[in-house]
Amino acid sequence: MTAGDRTEVSAAQLAAAGTPPLFPEDFLWGGATSNVQGEGGIAEGGKGLSVYDTLVVTPEPGIEPVYSDTAVASDHYHRYREDIALMGELGMKAHRFSIVWSRIFPNGDETEPNQAGLAFYEDMVDALRENGIEPVASLLHFDMPDNLRVTRNGFESRETIDLHTRFVKAVVGRLRGKVTYWITYNEINTAPFFPRLVAGSERPETAQKVDYEATIRHHTLLAQAQAALAIRTLQSDAQVGCMIYYGPSYPASSDPRDVTAARFLNDSVFHVPLDVMAHGEYSTFYRRFLERRGSNIPEQSGDAEILRAGAEVLDYISFSYYQTAVASHPDTGNEVADEDALMAGFFSGSQPNPHLDRNEWGWQIDPEGIRTAAAQLYARYRKPVFVVENGIGIDEQPDESGVVQDDARIAYHRGHVRALADAIHIDGVPVIGYLAWSPFDILSSHKEMRKRYGFIHINRTHDDLRDLKRTPKKSFWWYRDVIASRGASALEGD
Ligand code: BG6
Repeated sequence: MTAGDRTEVSAAQLAAAGTPPLFPEDFLWGGATSNVQGEGGIAEGGKGLSVYDTLVVTPEPGIEPVYSDTAVASDHYHRYREDIALMGELGMKAHRFSIVWSRIFPNGDETEPNQAGLAFYEDMVDALRENGIEPVASLLHFDMPDNLRVTRNGFESRETIDLHTRFVKAVVGRLRGKVTYWITYNEINTAPFFPRLVAGSERPETAQKVDYEATIRHHTLLAQAQAALAIRTLQSDAQVGCMIYYGPSYPASSDPRDVTAARFLNDSVFHVPLDVMAHGEYSTFYRRFLERRGSNIPEQSGDAEILRAGAEVLDYISFSYYQTAVASHPDTGNEVADEDALMAGFFSGSQPNPHLDRNEWGWQIDPEGIRTAAAQLYARYRKPVFVVENGIGIDEQPDESGVVQDDARIAYHRGHVRALADAIHIDGVPVIGYLAWSPFDILSSHKEMRKRYGFIHINRTHDDLRDLKRTPKKSFWWYRDVIASRGASALEGD
């Protein structure tokens, strides 16, 4: 049997028949991390505090609060060359990292960048290239200088948009020629919902929720459009990507109202910002959404042109994928309240999907969802897609031989790689690469050390730094084989 005989069969079935459909030769297999969650060194090299450093964590629902400070994290700041050498041994073709804004502009409002910060990331890029790894650089990943939160309330202020562009220009000016793939803004779609971490901002008591969220939405989208334009202007051969958290909602049942509820959530959470970033304008859906609540987009003259121009230079859409959600119509009889309840429900944890397992943090494990996500994104935006985060958080310990036997992580990635193969080979989606979260253990976005994602174990607990030794987990060797076989080893077996 060949792919030509039975195009509808899955990639795994073709593998079982002896003809695994290999991933493209230039496919970017690799890993992704958030430097602010892994570096530590928070006051070294001239760095200022970031909004992540000062974050006081609100626990995820049902999670016992056991958090760490960010002073050392995984000590990537001092050990990045060792970490990158291990990534090279893993065979990674690409690594996504973030350039911490408060390392480059410690207070965010200086006129000149901190040269030590720029030199630090330049050396990180050099180390990646020396190990045959393509750098994928993110420009805003929970790392706004805390001073901008305190003095401007982050992206509530329009001034912050230009300060961000200044940061982008300083970084791209230094690294162009060494970095091709850029990501403008991590999970920008979550900024209105988690403004403290994602946009360096908190809703003033006097502000209406709907107006405040529209402001954060608009200003972050302007920042991303200006970033995209700055990258393209400074580096004509750059690959410019936007980035969203993407975990599509399924209808809880075939009740048409549940289908509408799921569509509403997908439009609100994902398509509103993506339509701006990829099509260059707000959807009529979003304008009506605000109008019906007596609000509107705080647009100024010239904004529409910036958003349009930003979309024109966009090369690809990148996304993080961890799980899917479930939507059902909250039947209160009040349409407007229903929609707001739906949104609130989505962000306080989706309802369980009876067909899926969950990890300890309640995140639903849905490999097929990554295929759906990739196919939906491509169908709507017709841009290549790039999976720049996918992984599972596990509370785990090394065994007596000192190795973490993380079979659950292997099963997670295996399932997602297989589903992605179907997105490519059956659905015809152009996928640039698959970057697993995260090559080595780091603090979670909630500053938890016990929620580990890495292929490489870091020997520390939430409060005991031990020796911070790096040790490959079982999944390290599994992923190395997957990359070396262009995906074939993940497709084999049941
Ligand atoms: C994404 C973020 O939301 O998910 C990462 O871009 C984050 O920074 C990752 O770490 C996993 O989430 P968490 O909360 O388990 O760390």
